[in-house]
Amino acid sequence: MDSNTLLSKAHMLLALLFVISMLIKVILIFKNNESFDKYRGKTKIAEMIVTILFLILGIILMVQKGGGFHLLFWIKLAVVAAGIPLGIVGAKKHSKVLVTLSFLCFFAAYGLAEVAKKKVVVEEVVVAEPTQLGIEIYKANCTPCHGEDGKKGLGGASDLSTSILSEEDAKGVITNGRGNMAPYRGQMKEEDIKALAAYLQSLKGK
Ligand code: HEC
Repeated sequence: MDSNTLLSKAHMLLALLFVISMLIKVILIFKNNESFDKYRGKTKIAEMIVTILFLILGIILMVQKGGGFHLLFWIKLAVVAAGIPLGIVGAKKHSKVLVTLSFLCFFAAYGLAEVAKKKVVVEEVVVAEPTQLGIEIYKANCTPCHGEDGKKGLGGASDLSTSILSEEDAKGVITNGRGNMAPYRGQMKEEDIKALAAYLQSLKGK
């Protein structure tokens, strides 16, 4: 797990804590104002720490990603932004409606974040078009043995146009090598190998 996934896991965990705490508040405010206030008083500092950490991690993750945000992300952000004032005003006025609405905002944002996460994974798997990057790396490194069309077969090199390897398995062969083919681990970036493996798919059947 790289540092980025660790950060976003921590971010989601904080969000979950926050949502659970909000749910407790909703239950308590429906019980009576005293238990609501008591709980708020007890968890004030913890909640502040969770909130600040959550925001800091969120900002770091946003900066790291640097753009290309999914529409769901902006909706999520807007829903969270709406939930905060609702929660603050609701707590002050002991308004069941506002506190519940605030909880629903955070709950929805948490749900959206989970959906967005799955969506990103799906998109990564589906998008396998040969990129210019893949073509260039292939020409620079692989043609001596495999040829432009993948059929050359120098020194027993496999015919890539008839290869039945999946993209994932091809990545494995490129990374770890096999037989007379040397491994590219350490010589190529992960994303280059990924682009290569995607390009190989387009050589098939030609
Ligand atoms: C020095 C020659 C050489 C070079 C350069 C080379 N390969 Fe290979 N490649 C081979 C040989 C030999 C095999 C067969 C390995 C074996 O014996 O299983 C092979 C097998 C493969 C396979 C497995 C195909 C299958 O269906 O089993 C893939 C995928 C592959 N090469 C991709 C690449 C890519 C991508 C590059 C460029 C980054 C590359 N190779 C560079 C020699 C080479």
